[in-house]
Amino acid sequence: MGMHQSYAPGRVELLGNHTDYNDGVVLSAAIDRGITLIGDSTGSTRVQVGDPVAGLHYETDAEKLAPTKEQDWSNYLVGVLDVFKKNGLPVSGFSADISSTLPQGAGLSSSAALEVATAMLLIKIYGLEVKLIDVAKMCRRAENEFVGMNCGLLDQASSAFGKAGHAIFLDCRSETVENIPFPKGVELLITRCGVPHRLIGGEYNERRAQCFDAAARLGVKALRDVTSARLEEAKATLPTLSYQRAAHVVGENERVLKGIEFLREGNVAGFGELMFASHESSIRNFENSTPEIDKLVEIAKTLPGVLGSRITGGGFGGATVTLLRKENAEEVKEAIEAKYKEQTGNTATAYICEIADGAHIIA
Ligand code: GLA
Repeated sequence: MGMHQSYAPGRVELLGNHTDYNDGVVLSAAIDRGITLIGDSTGSTRVQVGDPVAGLHYETDAEKLAPTKEQDWSNYLVGVLDVFKKNGLPVSGFSADISSTLPQGAGLSSSAALEVATAMLLIKIYGLEVKLIDVAKMCRRAENEFVGMNCGLLDQASSAFGKAGHAIFLDCRSETVENIPFPKGVELLITRCGVPHRLIGGEYNERRAQCFDAAARLGVKALRDVTSARLEEAKATLPTLSYQRAAHVVGENERVLKGIEFLREGNVAGFGELMFASHESSIRNFENSTPEIDKLVEIAKTLPGVLGSRITGGGFGGATVTLLRKENAEEVKEAIEAKYKEQTGNTATAYICEIADGAHIIA
């Protein structure tokens, strides 16, 4: 028996913030950093997972799977095994060693990458045939039920469906994905503000509940079913908070659709403006940004060749994504880091990110 190897990338959300669990639309991309797993069947019900470099090791029995608080990192792997079993897939014990080039807590979905890499490894080890959309959905279920984070489909679908040089357009109602060519001559710069985010916390779930409440007040199944015109009509009847939350999601859905048009036309300036508008809405309507993240966007705005910049992912810390002209990329990267240090005393880490392929089996 030879060892098997799987890989799944992190993702960057380009437009469509907090739209996924509102049955909405999102534009994202898989990035050139991710998680590799090396492992095999254990030939028994024994499950052995770990990260040798970080000195992590966890063992359990495939017949007795339960989340652990002490070694919570292992829940991302074990949770996927649990969901595969609940779906009636013929899987049992396995081993997996993790290695990662993806920073944790940076808003780049290291947790989804770990889940999707686990799914790919199990598929390879046990010779299964599973559609990519089902990989994404089972991994989301692992995150929802085993990890306890009520995320939507964005992170897992992006890690699964990435394609080099292409954005991912995900429709969370129809659960369909389309890869859209990303214009040439521009780069994405991801900048971590240095303050980690933690989404298992209350804010994400609170925003989710506020969105569902706003949809109920508007008499629709999900905020997906509201246009900005309809929302403006209803404004006077809504509590301010419901209006704000709905305005963010409705605006983001509309910006995604506009953004796709701009990508198809190669209108990178237009796309960048949508990113700035998205961030403004995070600040004003959704209140999921932080002073550090706002600072990064504000600095980016002043730099040559920058077309757009916004928070990426859940929020409350994490990272920004900046769209900029290729020829300015290095200079902007250095300037953002230097100015942020100067103005806040904190250290931000920026890197020019390539849009990469999604999850796959290496061996
Ligand atoms: C996190 C969640 C996703 C999505 C984004 C916000 O990344 O895991 O499901 O809701 O936040 O768009």
